[in-house]
Amino acid sequence: MAKMRTVVQDELGGPEVLRITEVDRPEPGSGEILVRVHAAGVNPVDWKTRATGGMIGRKPPFTVGWDVSGTVEAVGPGVRIYQVGDEVYGMPLFPRLANAYAEYLVAPARHFDFKPARLSHTEAAALPLAGLTAYQALVDTADVRPGQRVLVHAAAGGVGHLAVQIAKAKGAYVIGTASAGKHEYLGSIGADEAVDYREVDFTTVVDTVDVVVDPIGGEYTARSASVLKDGGYLLSVIPGDLSEDEQRRVHAGFILVEADWSGMKGLSALVEAGQLTPTVSETFTLSEAGKAHESLAAGRTTGKIVLTVD
Ligand SMILES: NC(=O)c1ccc[n+]([C@@H]2O[C@H](COP(=O)([O-])OP(=O)(O)OC[C@H]3O[C@@H](n4cnc5c(N)ncnc54)[C@H](OP(=O)(O)O)[C@@H]3O)[C@@H](O)[C@H]2O)c1
Repeated sequence: MAKMRTVVQDELGGPEVLRITEVDRPEPGSGEILVRVHAAGVNPVDWKTRATGGMIGRKPPFTVGWDVSGTVEAVGPGVRIYQVGDEVYGMPLFPRLANAYAEYLVAPARHFDFKPARLSHTEAAALPLAGLTAYQALVDTADVRPGQRVLVHAAAGGVGHLAVQIAKAKGAYVIGTASAGKHEYLGSIGADEAVDYREVDFTTVVDTVDVVVDPIGGEYTARSASVLKDGGYLLSVIPGDLSEDEQRRVHAGFILVEADWSGMKGLSALVEAGQLTPTVSETFTLSEAGKAHESLAAGRTTGKIVLTVD
């Protein structure tokens, strides 16, 4: 049987538990494709799952990682949308294991889309999980409209920098929070205003908004609600605390990203239109996955970190 390299961990713990091993290459079943992975995006859920088992509730050994971009190597019975050689990207199977930190991966065909020609594999691997999170929140949930005011917290981060661009593409006025050194970057991706959350309390300088994207949670949630108009949307991708009164006044709730064919099509269309480009600030090789986790877990990343696989 053909073999492949993959990252595996035999126990929960720090970055040092990640190691490279060789395993049998998987084969696609009905409705699935085998993808030769060129790049695998790194997300906070990767290091959280490595450290705690995360929401998958499985004990090691397992392989983390969900975001991939690569080439279709084989198609399973019944798959008509892809052929061998097609370039695809996606966030398959989340929150079940996808084993994306590997040279090959098998997953349902419709958990991917064709990679936009504008993006390299490295850029494409940066997009699915964080991009779908922002898209499902801003487009599917809040249905952001031209002229609406959208506040994006952690606007220079993985979810935030894509949320800024998606909200702009929908015609919104976008305010982003980030440390001062990242304000020029926020302007370059289309933010209309930037707030230095370290120097000022954003609730004192942000006028009423229609929508908040909150990747911070905790006490940020109640403060974010305080700048929302009645009936506005508080899109929390990390659970936070909100009083019952505020829960009645605004649309609030935790959102968990889902594998999503139409969401992938939506992201691809924005990329093709030149309205959405992921920023990749650092790359690591597959055998440096632990270093990539350390860097992301420091919480200061601009855009995304990606593992290059070949
Ligand atoms: N529910 C879901 O489906 C879902 C999906 C994706 C992500 N998430 C979660 O969402 C969170 C964010 O993910 P991510 O990929 O965007 O993380 P990330 O890329 O690691 O975020 C890093 C950014 O956060 C900024 N930041 C940190 N504290 C901040 C604060 N108090 N105010 C404003 N900006 C701040 C940093 O900017 P500075 O250097 O300027 O501080 C940095 O640019 C993670 O906890 C992740 O697990 C949930």
